[in-house]
Amino acid sequence: MAQQHSFLTHQRFLLGTFASNCAGGMTVSKLPERWVANWQNNLRLGKLLDEAGIDFMLPIARWIGYGGETDFHGSVLETMTWAAALLASTQRITVFATIHATANHPVVVAKQIATLSQVSGERVGLNIVAGWNKPEYEALGLTLPDDHETRYGYAQEWFDFIRKLWREDKAFDWNGRYFTTKGSYGDPRPASPPPIINAAGSPQGREFAVNNANFLFTPAIDLERSKVEIAELRAQGKNAGRDVDVLTFSHVVCRPTEAEARAELKRQLDSADWGAVDNLVRLQFAHAHSFPHDLLALIRERMATGHGGFPLVGTPEQVAEGIASLHAAGFRGTTLSFLDYAQEFPYFRDTVLPLLAQRGIR
Ligand SMILES: Cc1cc2nc3c(=O)[nH]c(=O)nc-3n(C[C@H](O)[C@H](O)[C@H](O)COP(=O)(O)O)c2cc1C
Repeated sequence: MAQQHSFLTHQRFLLGTFASNCAGGMTVSKLPERWVANWQNNLRLGKLLDEAGIDFMLPIARWIGYGGETDFHGSVLETMTWAAALLASTQRITVFATIHATANHPVVVAKQIATLSQVSGERVGLNIVAGWNKPEYEALGLTLPDDHETRYGYAQEWFDFIRKLWREDKAFDWNGRYFTTKGSYGDPRPASPPPIINAAGSPQGREFAVNNANFLFTPAIDLERSKVEIAELRAQGKNAGRDVDVLTFSHVVCRPTEAEARAELKRQLDSADWGAVDNLVRLQFAHAHSFPHDLLALIRERMATGHGGFPLVGTPEQVAEGIASLHAAGFRGTTLSFLDYAQEFPYFRDTVLPLLAQRGIR
């Protein structure tokens, strides 16, 4: 299991999608044409992305919605089974499962990922969520520890256990703080460790990401801040003897003219489900440190159209320019979201991808 996973050796700026498994995707909208996160749409999208050479799909693991008029993210496909079905239906694309450590036993997760690695020829990745959303934990009957030390302490032991199951070819006993087992082993095991994502914002979470993840996933609210943040994270990684890259997420509104793109963004904003937006912002700010708390007003609008993602709004040239600016800030890649992913991706594919190739980013 020693060799490096092929996903980690791509030279190009990585592009993926985010949250296509969730009702509404990343747009907290009341528009009737908002994204319907059913299997047919995900399969259609997965095939389009795979054929276009997009690198990955990343889901959000959610167990209850954000309320409001639309109950944003009320309907969500479970991510391990979603990844399994997509991997079986595609050829090249990497598909991540997003897993809440507390809600999923490490012996089970180790085997699920190993199984998907075999199914897909090593195209599966794992996004680890340590926990943050208190009402969601209540819906699972779990207690979310108030302090980040306990949340990430648990996640650390959980992932250490998984890594050992992926590494050891003999049965072993696990005697930890949170797990005590006898005769555990993982068979099959992945041929190489799958790519790991973590979206921590707190200092404790960042330390976890630096020590365990290949990619920290973080919002790009202000690119000058991002440059500093990325340099610090890379340096922290180097200190820990690891290469850590940073991914972000972007919301795309791409049209032939800037006026059309701006009008479409305004249309999405005008029909935002503000009740759900405010619940989303309130929960993020109450329980997690992902978004900078001093940028609340800006973040509220960005939450409505893109769940806090970086706005890529404009002509294909402007969208390509925006992606180039993320690349220049030091991001290793970005996810993309659209109001209707499958409807809008082909225009992005045909107009923006060639411009990124011309710029040498892809
Ligand atoms: C880009 C991004 C992706 C995330 N994906 C998920 C997810 O799939 N499921 C989930 O429950 N939380 C998700 N979160 C929420 C983070 O896990 C949560 O904000 C994180 O725990 C905050 O970091 P902290 O615990 O260090 O404060 C995501 C957050 C961001 C910024």
